Amino acid sequence: DTAVMASDLTKPVLDALSESDAPLLSSDAFPSDPSATVKAALDRLESRDMVKYEAINTEVLTLTAEGEEIAANGSHEAKVFAVVVAAMDGLKITELPGIVGKDNAKVGQGNAFKRGWIKKDNDLLRATTDSIVDETQQHLLTVQKTKTLADNKAMQDLKRRKLIVLSKEITYKFSKGPKYARELVKEETDLTPEMIASGSWKTAHFKPYNFNAKGAPTTAGTLHPLNKVRQEFRNIFFEMGFEEMPTNRFVETGFWNFDALFVPQQHPARDLQDTFYISDPLKADGPREDDPNDPHLPKSLKSDKPLDYQQYWDNVKEVHQDGKFGSIGYRYPWNADESLRLVLRTHTTSISTYMLHKLAANPRPVRYFSIDRVFRNEAVDATHLAEFHQIEGVIADFGLTLGGLIGFMEVFFAKMGIHQLRFKPAYNPYTEPSMEIFGYHEGLGKWVEIGNSGMFRPEMLEAMGLPKNMRVYGWGLSLERPTMIKYGVSNIRELLGHKVDLNFIETNPAVRLEKD
Ligand code: PHE
Repeated sequence: DTAVMASDLTKPVLDALSESDAPLLSSDAFPSDPSATVKAALDRLESRDMVKYEAINTEVLTLTAEGEEIAANGSHEAKVFAVVVAAMDGLKITELPGIVGKDNAKVGQGNAFKRGWIKKDNDLLRATTDSIVDETQQHLLTVQKTKTLADNKAMQDLKRRKLIVLSKEITYKFSKGPKYARELVKEETDLTPEMIASGSWKTAHFKPYNFNAKGAPTTAGTLHPLNKVRQEFRNIFFEMGFEEMPTNRFVETGFWNFDALFVPQQHPARDLQDTFYISDPLKADGPREDDPNDPHLPKSLKSDKPLDYQQYWDNVKEVHQDGKFGSIGYRYPWNADESLRLVLRTHTTSISTYMLHKLAANPRPVRYFSIDRVFRNEAVDATHLAEFHQIEGVIADFGLTLGGLIGFMEVFFAKMGIHQLRFKPAYNPYTEPSMEIFGYHEGLGKWVEIGNSGMFRPEMLEAMGLPKNMRVYGWGLSLERPTMIKYGVSNIRELLGHKVDLNFIETNPAVRLEKD
């Protein structure tokens, strides 16, 4: 097969140049080879300085399928003339389509009249001459051979009749390069021990490194975009002196998720339509001491002092039911069973609460954060799933003020490139005051809600046994939101769940939050 044999033109290019010091044109030297094949050979030789070349874009004329047909068999008008001239006594007009076909009859008749080859005689067609020159066919044959047509008027006419089209063609003009040789020497791609031992490396031709080569994609595991953005947030927290909280408790008791946070048992967030409850087992054990040496706890929480869980439990009950620590409470009969119900945690504030209670064994200034999954029984749409990730931080210290919380937020969000913040009073059962945080997003050009924050209530902190003068900031935001903004994903289902395009996960770039 010549096409296969001709597929490497390296040698033919070198041969063609051996007789010529002047540049050659690929359209002359290799008229029937595809231009990609020519280019491949030229690129290969150019990379070794054996040839130089440039690409020339030219416009050429080519025949359409109908043009090819006419070049082979003659024009419509020539076909009409042929049958008319053959009919000695004239040809009935109505018979013409039956002989030459409808199309030929219609177009050909008109053109033959225009050229004066035939005339009408009542209902007959008669030839006015014995022979004609089929210019249309002649022109098409010229185009077929030379890809051009000097007669501009004829060229326009053929184009209008859709017999020829103008198309682009690349021609390569190539000549000898500084290292031109008739043969392509083998280039070594490796320096081997054998070459060194034998000394053959001294005369070997080594292939130069191709620093432009992209390299084959490797199959490897990749991090999900959420994990990449999570890592960025973890770094921000670590550089601000935070310790990471262990978040492996996806299933929580109502106690840690709600009651300890001073969320009343009638609160709508505790309804079935907002929270997922566990059906098996239905209930948790009652209050008891847990492992004080849990290796996953932040170092600042290691303490030998035992915590009185029963006292804490009783404090929570009392503060809800009757009021305590200067609070009048909610004044409803508190139900222990409601507190022992198991839920999929609705926020990671359950973890923060658990940690703060541990802090009561040895109260001191601490900074904790966590980034993990939470669950809410919500209608799923383009921006909401029934599970998402929360980024949460808490800061405990003596003498903290609301101004300090606002100041901290400005520093924290500036580290992710958000420099303008607005705060709006809000309500959480467990914080007072509470603030929603809005940030001006330069990329989106608008204010977006970026988080919820507040100072934990004394009802919550004092019940744990934390000192009266200790204050605790808390705030939370979703991990999905900044990730979607960063990666330009508008539907959360493209980021999480079964509709995720694995190719997107594998090829998405590393992410950096703009820092100053
Ligand atoms: N738990 C809150 C939420 O889910 C976030 C928050 C945490 C608010 C701590 C205040 C204090 O949105």
